[in-house]
Amino acid sequence: MPQTTPKGLQRLAFGGDYNPEQWPESVWQEDVRLMREAGVTMVSVGIFSWALLEPESGRHDFGWLDRLLDLLHAHGIRVDLGTPTVAPPAWFYRAHPEALPVTAEGMRYSYGSRGTICHSSSAYRTAAAGITTALARRYGSHPALALWHVHNEYGVPVSACYCDGCAAHFRNWLHETYGSVEAVNEAWGTAFWGQAYGSYEEILPPRVTPTVGNPAQQLDYRRFADATIRENFRMERDILHELAPGIPVTTNFMTALSQCDSIDYWAWGREVDLVTNDHYLMTDGRRTHINLAMAADLTRSVAGGAPWLLLEHSTSGVNWQARNPAKRPGEMARNSLAHVARGSEGAMFFQWRQSRRGAEKFHSAMVPHGGTDTRVWREVVALGAGLEALEEVRGTRTVPDVAVLWDWHSWWAQSLEWRPNEAHDARERADSFYEALYDRHLTVDFAHPESDLSAYPLVVVPALYLMTEAAGQNLREYVEDGGTLVVSYFSGIVDEHDAVHPGAYPGALRDVLGLTVEEWSPLLDEQRVRIEGPGGASLTGDVWTEFVRPRGAETVWSYADGPAAGGPAVTRRRLGRGTAWYVSTRLDAASLDAIVAAACEDAGVAERAALPRDVEVVRRAGDDGQRYLFALNHTAEDAEVPLDGSGTELLAGAVVGTAAGTPVGTAAGTPVGATAGTPVGTPVDGKLTVPAGAVRVVRLDG
Ligand code: GLA
Ligand code: ZN
Repeated sequence: MPQTTPKGLQRLAFGGDYNPEQWPESVWQEDVRLMREAGVTMVSVGIFSWALLEPESGRHDFGWLDRLLDLLHAHGIRVDLGTPTVAPPAWFYRAHPEALPVTAEGMRYSYGSRGTICHSSSAYRTAAAGITTALARRYGSHPALALWHVHNEYGVPVSACYCDGCAAHFRNWLHETYGSVEAVNEAWGTAFWGQAYGSYEEILPPRVTPTVGNPAQQLDYRRFADATIRENFRMERDILHELAPGIPVTTNFMTALSQCDSIDYWAWGREVDLVTNDHYLMTDGRRTHINLAMAADLTRSVAGGAPWLLLEHSTSGVNWQARNPAKRPGEMARNSLAHVARGSEGAMFFQWRQSRRGAEKFHSAMVPHGGTDTRVWREVVALGAGLEALEEVRGTRTVPDVAVLWDWHSWWAQSLEWRPNEAHDARERADSFYEALYDRHLTVDFAHPESDLSAYPLVVVPALYLMTEAAGQNLREYVEDGGTLVVSYFSGIVDEHDAVHPGAYPGALRDVLGLTVEEWSPLLDEQRVRIEGPGGASLTGDVWTEFVRPRGAETVWSYADGPAAGGPAVTRRRLGRGTAWYVSTRLDAASLDAIVAAACEDAGVAERAALPRDVEVVRRAGDDGQRYLFALNHTAEDAEVPLDGSGTELLAGAVVGTAAGTPVGTAAGTPVGATAGTPVGTPVDGKLTVPAGAVRVVRLDG
């Protein structure tokens, strides 16, 4: 994965999606003036402009885009140029209605929105290649061009199409993957329920059936759909590489959002020149900054630890959730800088100027409907100055402490029907383990189960139901070589075809964990179990219990009640130079924390000083020994962060938003510290004060 930075961008990226085709060109003049006022360095343009750029098949109208790119260039603003292939024009669909995707129920979607694409359609591929080629020829050497933004958020709103064209394409994919139809029958276990196929022609996409369809077929269809979408990305990328050499190509990911679970970002991370991500806060009542941190950590991991870029988030509320609260004063700066702390080379937004018309007119923007005399605008200007003060962190890398294993294929398999307990949610376990690590101020890398884990003292496996033999062997070697492993229940159960590993559960992991599980006994709603451990301490679990038989592992905690009363609940095995923990129930947050604490002790993972749990501390370090500490205070109280030595605080002299709890409409964007707009370092020694709701960044000495 050749990680590059946008061409000619000598600054952290700050800006947003800019859709000026919504406005008369007179407004563009004000836009660029305001962009300069805010310190905007790059904007994303043309993402949805196909119908304007190619008003009829083969006839192009580039005039407005020529003027726009020239204007941006004249004002020193770099351009992330979209290929508009996520929004084919109406003329295209009228000529090729077969390119409209079909649902598993057999309903064909209509055009009139965006992202309505059957990725197997050869007409779509031809048309997408055409507009991409035309753009590359016209703008490939434009001096404003910094980055290509292919398509938009592949995988949504349609993650898979079930049309006849896709059926034919699926058969080809199966043929390439398996060779013979017998091999497909074997992999899918079609001997059961009389599903055997005599030829490829008989095989269909997993369309709606009256009861459960074949699980391995469904799993393969998700792989096929992801691979098909990726083929189309590659096609555009290769055109751009050829016709516009030297300009990096990206497409915006959505790594941790539950809205997009159909893309295997491990595979995609290897295809792009620069990993970019979109992240929006989910207002589900949880501590939203934790999901943000997780998304950022996952994006950095997909980028192999290299710097990446946050291409979209929001200045304030979105408009697509059930309730869309405004961000609190200071929250936008905290969100933006949390991404930067975790490796983003800047912070970009959807969108620059709030729309008056169309689907997203109630979505916040950098320039709100109310214009510049608004809290949001003042905070945007303040953030621009803050990012300017942080220029020197560019190119440094976030320093991880521990790893969590992550695999989209396992999530896909896990989400199939007819499982021991519907209430078991693998993503919930991943979130909960992540939260336990976050609360200990540990920075998490995500890792593929078959990747090299030797750099991490502690590796957590939250609930990875699908795990290959090779992954199991990888974890065994990791522990033997001195690693500490924590595994949650319902991990390592099936192989890549959703077939149960031979022998007792958990097939891929019983060796490293030193135990077998004879039976699961999932719990009913409201049922809880108590677990007793060292010194009479007690923990609580729900959703799941098991009958665990240690075969080399020691029992550390036992079930005090419930179906497995008296049996092992949490075990530990010493193997080689390392340790493997197993947790056989769904522990609540406090209980999980106790186990994570014990594992951290085994792993020798240093406890961060007793900071409030919502004070986030992250480090970035450079090749030349520079070290930076980011401290983000998500609480309403000032906090003190102990420092290992002395350093220089970079943000307080700039303008970066305001304290949490400041009433909307007041004080936003007021300088926190010294004079606005004149970043000056402030010496700090031994400890750092982070005001309520604020962010501080220290360049550490030595
Ligand atoms: C996505 C899209 C944007 C916009 C935002 C709104 O991220 O890429 O075009 O719709 O959502 O939150
Ligand atoms: Zn299709």
